[in-house]
Amino acid sequence: MQQSGHLPRHLAVIMDGNGRWALRRGKPRTYGHQVGTESVRKLIRAVAKRGIPILTIYAFSSENWSRPNHEVKRLMSLFRRALDREVNELHENGVRVNFIGQREAFSKTLRMGMERAESLTRHNQRLLLNIAANYGGQGDIVATARRLAQRVKDGVLEPDNIDESLFSQSVALAGQPAPDLFIRTGGERRLSNYLLWNLAYTELYFCDTLWPDFTETDLDAALEDFAGRERRFGGLMESDTLKHA
Ligand code: IPE
Ligand code: IPE
Ligand code: MG
Repeated sequence: MQQSGHLPRHLAVIMDGNGRWALRRGKPRTYGHQVGTESVRKLIRAVAKRGIPILTIYAFSSENWSRPNHEVKRLMSLFRRALDREVNELHENGVRVNFIGQREAFSKTLRMGMERAESLTRHNQRLLLNIAANYGGQGDIVATARRLAQRVKDGVLEPDNIDESLFSQSVALAGQPAPDLFIRTGGERRLSNYLLWNLAYTELYFCDTLWPDFTETDLDAALEDFAGRERRFGGLMESDTLKHA
């Protein structure tokens, strides 16, 4: 058994259900995204307060471009506004911001905002906040394979030296410990192309709460569930080996 109160070192979250939350209130889906940004703000504070050192959030997937144009546009403007509004406060609270995903697809203004956030906060140590924007797990793995193939072609890497450890050091979350806990809100039980490489042994937690309704209480329920889980990584618990000794 894990000790009660055992916290993940790295938490990965899919904030899902904004659209449905708004439609249930007779509002446009984009209203759900607007209210959802407030839940993101609260999540970051709550995670920092609990002393979890790494948080990775899914802001926009590489497949989300297939949504109606006006929704994509609204998401981009919310993204830009959130960056303008929140970065200084994140910085004051010791949060280091890091973006993963193909940022070339975003507007110049947005890219500049992302770079500014990263450079302003780069020495902060309280919480590392990875924001996945135009990110896809398969794309991450393919881009990694391509980079390593290029190094082989350049004669600086032997194919035999490509292993799990080198791959882990080369994906988008290079050098970071894998997420211990994954939370997806909104009721869907799938990964939606999130962090496929990194989630190999992550504990998965799904809840039906729609993202704009997600509170600290929901976070604590997930953390409590996590604290009670037995992680074996393919091995056995010490108690199991004793039983059969
Ligand atoms: C998640 O909420 C936010 C993003 C994908 C940006 P959705 O927009 O997917 O909301 P639902 O799942 O349609 O309710
Ligand atoms: C995953 O949610 C992406 C984000 C929350 C950013 P989606 O709503 O896009 O996932 P699907 O389409 O239900 O799989
Ligand atoms: Mg969704």
